[in-house]
Amino acid sequence: MALVSSLELLRKAQKEKYAVGAFNAENMEMVQAIVEAAVEMRAPVIIQTTPSTVAYASLAMFRAMVFAAANEADVPIALHLDHGDSLELCREAVGAKYTSVMYDGSKLSFEENINITKNVADFCRASAIQIEAELGTVGGKEDSHEVKSEDALYTNPMQAKEFAERTGVDSLAIAIGTAHGFYKGEPKLDFERLEEIHKVVSVPLVLHGASGVPDEAVKKSIGFGICKVNFATELRVAFTKGVNAILLNDNKVYDPKKYNKQGKEEVKKLVVNKIKLCGSNNKY
Ligand code: 13P
Repeated sequence: MALVSSLELLRKAQKEKYAVGAFNAENMEMVQAIVEAAVEMRAPVIIQTTPSTVAYASLAMFRAMVFAAANEADVPIALHLDHGDSLELCREAVGAKYTSVMYDGSKLSFEENINITKNVADFCRASAIQIEAELGTVGGKEDSHEVKSEDALYTNPMQAKEFAERTGVDSLAIAIGTAHGFYKGEPKLDFERLEEIHKVVSVPLVLHGASGVPDEAVKKSIGFGICKVNFATELRVAFTKGVNAILLNDNKVYDPKKYNKQGKEEVKKLVVNKIKLCGSNNKY
């Protein structure tokens, strides 16, 4: 199947009250693992890459890998630029035929965030590409961008409504207490805030920083209107666990196919579980 629009996936999820799992891939094996899990679970998935991932390989390289894997799959797969940090990178992703982009202006002032996000949204609309933006700041570290917990700013519901209306974005990432990377204690999500945001914002809502969030909290957030859940750190940990299981047990192994295969299996197992958690299995 050809790559599909993320918006098409999110609208169906919004209507049917489940979430699409969005999984960060760092290499070919992780792309394969995510697609194989999606096919087995009859689930839609979004594969996403951050700026540091596309600096490691390239937009064209990831686009080609995801395109090839999606072509062999019979469930819908979208390719998304995660945390695009400039208008230029978003433009490049659209040029490379990604099917959606995120512009992350969450560290800017409210007005600056609106201005640049609107520019990116206008540009994306002209290319029929979906745009996600962020309001409020999710704590923790993603790529080189780190937000200390004392600087994390929860999303204000009325500002979220104004932001969505003035920018015309297709989906909105909100900050309700999650953080990128590892948590020090158990994260406490602000469900009342999520409920308020959901009442006044009509576009699909996105939860970032889902690695390490208890399953019950993820499920509850989906019940309150989250339509896309982002998982990155847990996939990186799973891949490394698989590779280590081979390399730390046998120092004579030298064929990357052998240890990467185990990394892939661990990622696939994890993605199967996250798809079930999102309730997106058996949707296609
Ligand atoms: P985690 O690394 O906490 O899973 O966050 C993923 C994410 O939000 C990517 O944008």
